[in-house]
Amino acid sequence: MRVYDLLEKKKRGEELNGEELTFLIDGYVRGTVPDYQMAAFLMAVCLRGMTDGEIREMTRIMRFSGRQIDLSAVKGPTVDKHSTGGVGDKTTLVLAPAVAALGAKVMKMSGRGLGHTGGTIDKLEAIAGFRTTMSVEEAADQVNRIGVCVVGQSEELAPADKKIYALRDLTATVDSVPLIAASIMSKKLAIGSKAIVLDVTYGSGAFMKTPEEALDLARQMIRIGRDAGRKMAAVVSSMEVPLGHYVGNLCEVKEAVDTLRGEGPEDLRRVCVELGGAMWSLCSGKDMERCREDICRVLQNGQAMEKFKEMVKAQGGELEKSLEQKARFEKEIRAWRSGYVNHMDTEKIGSGVMMLGAGRRRKEDRIDPLAGLYIARKTGEYVEKGEVLFRMEASDQDLFPAAEEILRRAISIKEEQPQTPPLIYEILH
Ligand code: URA
Repeated sequence: MRVYDLLEKKKRGEELNGEELTFLIDGYVRGTVPDYQMAAFLMAVCLRGMTDGEIREMTRIMRFSGRQIDLSAVKGPTVDKHSTGGVGDKTTLVLAPAVAALGAKVMKMSGRGLGHTGGTIDKLEAIAGFRTTMSVEEAADQVNRIGVCVVGQSEELAPADKKIYALRDLTATVDSVPLIAASIMSKKLAIGSKAIVLDVTYGSGAFMKTPEEALDLARQMIRIGRDAGRKMAAVVSSMEVPLGHYVGNLCEVKEAVDTLRGEGPEDLRRVCVELGGAMWSLCSGKDMERCREDICRVLQNGQAMEKFKEMVKAQGGELEKSLEQKARFEKEIRAWRSGYVNHMDTEKIGSGVMMLGAGRRRKEDRIDPLAGLYIARKTGEYVEKGEVLFRMEASDQDLFPAAEEILRRAISIKEEQPQTPPLIYEILH
């Protein structure tokens, strides 16, 4: 077999079989297939797409390139959740304990933020002492004891995806539905949870720009998961505006804590109820409506918050002490005219927050857990000239001018009130 012939085949839009995809992907991981050939393959996939069979095979090959995490020793219904990414997305911090408070077993491996998107692990590390690195055995033991553990993703998980993703990042081949589906599902299937709920986002802060693309991605991933014997559900939600009012790390933990106490912003609470309802429904077999009520109940009666505290304590974090901290400097950005917030460029807002020190430009950058942004007005809301739109928070005030410049460009104010898209576009259950 020659890689050249496989590239020729894919370029013509023909289907590659499992053996051919194995030759290509395993060869790339071992180093016998060079970057330039893999890059050509990825670009051909972007332009030609993949059949369901190819996506299934690519997922399987990447999944078995690394360790399989066996959760069979965990007693109770195991459930996992994944979001395709966003800005201000702190749903895991709310959902994982809420669903565990109802009796589900949640082993969640999360990532760090890069570029305009944040990462759950960075948010949790904003809690002093919180440990995000543990062995799989230790994490599974914690899940057995208290029902929930959120840790950094094991290095041994789907190494083929890791290598291919790094190349996609450099070759403009990230935003392909089959490649994203195979990438996400290879990692999710390697973790042995019986049920998986996907939060597939669309809009100016997401990979998928339209709800139709997000729905297509959700359907592909559900198909892959069900073929592998998992219970699957997906929520297609809008990331046209950031979720909640805070974007950063510690400030997002604080907003998640408000939500766990039955308060918090309405949009965040709604997404958590839908995703949490879907997770609990797959675990309990009850219908969505009753499961939504169950989630609302544990958010209201303090059980979800108690579970969150239990998790933080089990992972060495000091929650109360951390919640009292705040950034040294603040600067407000005020409306330059009266009118409705007409549009927010959520990706730009994420980039502005990164410039305040809350995110990373490159993987090796250090982040400032106290840096962040408060968003006072969101799309569709009216603002008077001179009222606060944003409040920037940082440990270094020299970072404000560059962040302010990008944040001002991220928002437009107009006379007419805009249409706001629905927060929840579709639930696939
Ligand atoms: N997240 C992933 O893990 N992979 C992708 O391809 C895109 C988002």
